[in-house]
Amino acid sequence: MSKYNTAPIQQSEANTPALTPVHFFSHGSTMMLGEESTSADYWKQCGDEALKCGIKGVIMMGAHWDCIGDQIQVATNPNPGKSPVAYVHPSKYIDYKLVPDLETSQRCIDLLAEAGYNVTGNPTFDWIHDTYLILIRMFPNGCPPTTLISMNARYDPHYHMKVGSTLRGLRKENYLLIGTGGAVHNLYRNRWAPMLRFRDTFAQDSPPESWALEFRQAVEDVLTKTSGPQLRRAMTRLMKHPEYRDAHATDDHFMAAMFVAGAAGDFEDVGAPAVLAAETWELTNMCNSQFTVGSW
Ligand SMILES: [Fe+2]
Repeated sequence: MSKYNTAPIQQSEANTPALTPVHFFSHGSTMMLGEESTSADYWKQCGDEALKCGIKGVIMMGAHWDCIGDQIQVATNPNPGKSPVAYVHPSKYIDYKLVPDLETSQRCIDLLAEAGYNVTGNPTFDWIHDTYLILIRMFPNGCPPTTLISMNARYDPHYHMKVGSTLRGLRKENYLLIGTGGAVHNLYRNRWAPMLRFRDTFAQDSPPESWALEFRQAVEDVLTKTSGPQLRRAMTRLMKHPEYRDAHATDDHFMAAMFVAGAAGDFEDVGAPAVLAAETWELTNMCNSQFTVGSW
């Protein structure tokens, strides 16, 4: 029998379906897969809680897969391979079996199409470490049925927020929605020398620069001090923050935050608890903040 819940969803006292929490995880460098950190501990804790609460599956938007034009795609490869990751011994990931959730993928395609998206399945897509790094860390003993949603390469914040709001209802069916990107993630501003010379991404021979500290704080403020539609407005507005372009030279690692704001920013989410539960700085200027909006 499957360990994933197929029973009817739980009802709260008010007889409305319980809402699963939504995570915004900053996956950082590939070395976050191989090295221990408080972020990795938190990912495992979230995985344990999700299994304990009997999730039906995971639905993720990452930061490494985007589609051109006005397209968005959902991964429908029944037997996906894994793109290799640098600086991590293959034993940390090579045997981990990925479990695509083809039924839920089709449901997501239908929901997104109904909402007006130009969406198709992609039957050949191999998964990338932005998603499977998190899955391995959260669920080391086995991958839950998982659906991957691509980004769109125009990186429109409102488009990606709406993807989250379109799929938000699946939280009421005990699916766990995760955005995996980065709070402060600018590869051009990272200090790579300790990684290249010593395989050490945690070295910090000088403090993070002011733009990184400033934007990291802005992300924390938005995620932990706003909720509901205000969270959506504040999150999309962060892309106009004066330090945004320093914190994100490209927009790809911030789209997952928009997805999360959409998935967790309905009127029904007003007042939902939100925490910055762990944080790991890498390469001096990359801030891997781990947030959860809502609770079990
Ligand atoms: Fe990444």
